[in-house]
Amino acid sequence: MDQYANPTAQAVDNVLIYIFGFSLLLLLGITVVTIIFVVKYRRSKYPEPTSDNDGNIWLETIWTVLPVMIVMTMFWYGWTNYVGLREVPAGALEIKATARMWSWQFEYPDGRKTSKLYVPVNTPIKVSLHSVDVLHNFFVPAFRIKRDTVPGMENYVWFQAPEEGSYDIFCAEYCGVGHADMITTVEAMSQEAYADWSKPLEPSGDPRGLIVLNEQGCTGCHSLDGSDNIGPSLFELAGQTRKLIRDGQPVEVAIDENYLKIAIREPELEVVAGYDPIMPPYDEGTISAEDLQAVVDYLLGKVVAATTAPDADQLLEENGCLGCHSSDGSEGIAPTFKGIGQRDVTIERDGKELTIKVDAEYLRRALLEPEADMVKGYAPMMPAADYLSPEQIDVIIEHLLKQ
Ligand code: CUA
Repeated sequence: MDQYANPTAQAVDNVLIYIFGFSLLLLLGITVVTIIFVVKYRRSKYPEPTSDNDGNIWLETIWTVLPVMIVMTMFWYGWTNYVGLREVPAGALEIKATARMWSWQFEYPDGRKTSKLYVPVNTPIKVSLHSVDVLHNFFVPAFRIKRDTVPGMENYVWFQAPEEGSYDIFCAEYCGVGHADMITTVEAMSQEAYADWSKPLEPSGDPRGLIVLNEQGCTGCHSLDGSDNIGPSLFELAGQTRKLIRDGQPVEVAIDENYLKIAIREPELEVVAGYDPIMPPYDEGTISAEDLQAVVDYLLGKVVAATTAPDADQLLEENGCLGCHSSDGSEGIAPTFKGIGQRDVTIERDGKELTIKVDAEYLRRALLEPEADMVKGYAPMMPAADYLSPEQIDVIIEHLLKQ
């Protein structure tokens, strides 16, 4: 099937055309023969039966064997093409799809998550299907793929996008009031654009200096926590002094930028008393000037670990919140996020109606125990967002209060 640009669609279309073609042929043939016989053997022309034949073994054999063969070819053709839909080509890119009421989330091998399915063209894509709540169904009409996503069950589909563009994804299994909103797209990009898109993100929120220390293996000999090792610890160097042996004489120097740079570029010049002169020099080719500065700044405490605050908009999108809550004020299944930080809500608590101001405490409860304080007029169908980290919840609350 590899010769086709859109192999899964081709497999399904071939079988459809084959079966539909035969059916059409038989329908036409039978109808034509019926009409001819009705006209030819009409009662006004032949008032009495003209034949009392008991049977014809050849005719009966043919009309039994021929349809059996036709049906068997339909089965064979359908089966082999179905097998093609289930056999994922080697080297397929695997993406995990998670369905929840009422959104899709896609997770890529490097851990990034999106609400649209981004893929390169002309590359087999295997989508593993997962559901966190109820039965959904992953349906992409353009690729003729449709498969249930079942909580607790592994399932998959594969496809290959023939050209760049957007292809609709639907949920094809009724899964509650938001079912019709479980719409997103496959975004097929050129191979180059995809390579660009999937460039590795900065792997961690660590400051550059620390990353270099780890990459270069510095921490193998120098501890970062004050403990002693093969080399002196790098713990809180700012303001400290070092006893060195310089030209055979013991001297005490302050640890500053200059000292550290020499200690990295030409370590044999400034060996700390009590340690062996075994550290290799790190030249420009190994640690660039820029990285050296980053290391020095880090060691002198000039950079604190950057807090990689997760982006609230991204969190809302990738966790599917926007599937039910609009951000533009339009009415959805659930209250809009627009202006949510500035309004009062009427909720039902313990069976009583209560109007309260939206604040951080309210939003936290709405996220973690949505059933507890249902906004009047909405059905209690939001799942508890306990899959978010406390930090992510804080970011979302802060963001919503500013809406
Ligand atoms: Cu999910 Cu319908």
